[in-house]
This record gives sequence, C-alpha cells and structure tokens, in this order.
Amino acid sequence: MTDYTPHPDDKFSFGLWTVGWEGVDVFGPASRPHLDPVESTYRLAELGAAAVTFHDDDLLPDDSTRDHTLERFTKALADTGMRVEMVTTNLFSHPVFKEGGLTANDRQVRRYAMAKVLRNIDLAASLGADTFVLWGGREGAEHGASKNVPASLDRMKESLDTFCQYVIDQGYGLRFALEPKPNEPRGDILLPTIGHALALISELEHPHLVGVNPEVGHEEMAGLNFAQGIAQALWHDKLFHVDLNGQHGPRFDQDLRFGAGNLRGAFWTVDTLLGAGTDKVYEGYVHFDYKPPRAEAVDGVWESARSCMRNYLILRERVRAFRADPEVAAALEAAKVAELEQPTLDAGESQDDLRNAAYDVAGLAERSVAMEALDQLAMEHLLGAR
Ligand code: GCO
Ligand code: MN
Ligand code: MN
Repeated sequence: MTDYTPHPDDKFSFGLWTVGWEGVDVFGPASRPHLDPVESTYRLAELGAAAVTFHDDDLLPDDSTRDHTLERFTKALADTGMRVEMVTTNLFSHPVFKEGGLTANDRQVRRYAMAKVLRNIDLAASLGADTFVLWGGREGAEHGASKNVPASLDRMKESLDTFCQYVIDQGYGLRFALEPKPNEPRGDILLPTIGHALALISELEHPHLVGVNPEVGHEEMAGLNFAQGIAQALWHDKLFHVDLNGQHGPRFDQDLRFGAGNLRGAFWTVDTLLGAGTDKVYEGYVHFDYKPPRAEAVDGVWESARSCMRNYLILRERVRAFRADPEVAAALEAAKVAELEQPTLDAGESQDDLRNAAYDVAGLAERSVAMEALDQLAMEHLLGAR
C-alpha cells in the first residue's frame, strides 16, 4: 500500500482564504470562527504542504496591523520552511469594486484598483513569490449595453502592460497568471475561459510575462473539459499556475475539495499535469483553491485540506499505474494514439500529393478505433480494479 502522506517535495500549496473561509454565503453569515492566517500557515505545514498563497486582504486586512502581521508571518515561514509561491489581489470584496476593478466604467475606481495591485506586487516580490494571479471576479456585467466589451479589453491590456513594465523596471522575478471564470459574482465575467485569456495574452506588450491560472470548477461551470483546457495552456507554454478543486457540472461555483465532484475529470487532470503521454509537463506548485463546505466545523476544515493532498497523491499513483500497464500500452497502440504525432504530410510533399492519392474511404470508415477498450482500462485503474 502506497504511503499517501504529503511531503514538501510534492509541492502542495494552499490559498490562506481556503481554510480561512468562514462560511459566509448569500444565504447566511459565518458558520465558523475566524482562523488566524499565520496559525493556518503552521497548520498547513504540519499537514505536509510546501507553500501558501494569499490575497492582500486575507493576510493584511488593515494598515494598522500590517507590519506586525508581516513580522509574525515571516517568522512562520522561517519556522516551517514554507514559502509564498503566489500572491493575488482582492479586487472584488470591497463595495468600491462593485462594478469592477481594472475594468470598472468609473476611471477613479480603475486607478485605485491599479494602485492596489502595484502595492501588492511589491509585497509579492519582497516575499519571493514566483506568480502573481489576477482573477477578475467583478470584471463583467449583468446587462448588455452597460459594458463596452472591447473597451474593457483595452483597459485590461492597459493594466497588464503597466504591471509587466513595472515588474521589468523593478527587476522582480514575477510572472502574471490570469484566472478565467465564466460567471459569479458577476452575471457574466470578462475572460470567461482559458481560451479567452490565452487570446488576450497574445495582444499584450510583454506576453512572455503573462500566463493562465485555470481553476477546475470554473471551466466545468462552463461545461468544458478541464484536462483538455490545461493541455492547450501547456501547449502554449502558458500554464503558469493552477487552482485544483472539485465541481459537479454546470452550476454555482462549488469549490469542493480536489477529487470530489468530477472524479474522472480529476484523474485526467493529474494525468495531464504529469505530462503523461506528452512532452509537456506542469512544473509549478500543485495549488488548491477550494472551500471547506459551510456545514463543516473547524475539524472538517483540516480534514478537507488533508483530503485535497491525499486525493492528488492517490490519483497520481493511479495515473502512473495506468501509464505503466503493458495492456494500456497495447491499447494505446491499437487506438493509434502515437500516430497523431506524425505530421500529416511528409517532408517535401505538396497539396497535390494529397489530392492525387487513392483513399480506401469505405475501409477507413469501417476501421476499429479501439477507444472504449482503452478508456475501460483507465476506468479500472481509477476504480482500483487493476
Ligand atoms: C473563485 C476564485 C477565487 C480566486 C482567488 C484568486 O473561486 O471564484 O477561484 O478563489 O481564485 O480569489 O484571486
Ligand atoms: Mn472557484
Ligand atoms: Mn481560484
């Protein structure tokens, strides 16, 4: 039996807002007490995590306690060996951002939002973070005419170009990662999917400094296949970070612990992150962005954090066993999976070579694709039946 105990070299990372979520939702107030984020850092280290991440406001909600909290937090990092691998900015809670931050119609709000991000970039750099996430939860609209989408994209580009230039000028080692989400809290959010974010990045002044931070539940809320989405992000060398969690299909953002919800999706997500069957491997932190369900008390908070890591380790073992199974190798061969890597045209061939060739269309139409057999092997590995 494999040991599913997480270790720092597994590179697990947690948002301090995840375990720190007190259960406030649209139907009710907090169901759990406030957890001190510095104490949570110690606790996550004990559980085997390697790093934490936070929004400015999670750790440093007001300026009067900022220096003291930072001192305590830095000591916690030194005591535990944990690091801060990612920092992000809260541009969604305060009512000033009720109509957006970087793309609010009101110009003063946009200037304030940019200033808040710039201050937080300094903090991220001073703590040695690699990645700076931008999630535009309030960048969006509920009504058609109220938001000029091309102008919003202009403002998003202006903001990102400014932040990238700042990081270059300061010599910071930070890269940005855009986090897509289709809706919630806005009715419709700008950059709703991985594909939208990748398209925007190609229009930026410094595209090499900007990638994506896709979240499982956000793509699945849009009915999309997360593993295939991150595979494309890896193909573009843009998977700078990841938010792992669980989701049951297209409904509100459930932020379940990793492995809950779409378990088969989680299996293929781990397979894709490990680069199984491809040459594109995700090298970053395995970051969890989930919410311990509101019904749980504090014991359930730590149980769910432990389970995120444990489920990842179990799935990693299952994926490795699937990829190492000789019957799987034969099934991959039967399904001609490797043949797709071969260019469709030979070197030196022209379009005429395609047009003038003879094709056995009837025979090709009847061929076996042998994909159900391959998928059943994956299912059996996932279910522990092999
Ligand atoms: C969500 C989002 C947020 C962001 C985080 C980063 O669940 O809607 O994931 O949790 O990831 O705020 O800014
Ligand atoms: Mn979410
Ligand atoms: Mn997220």
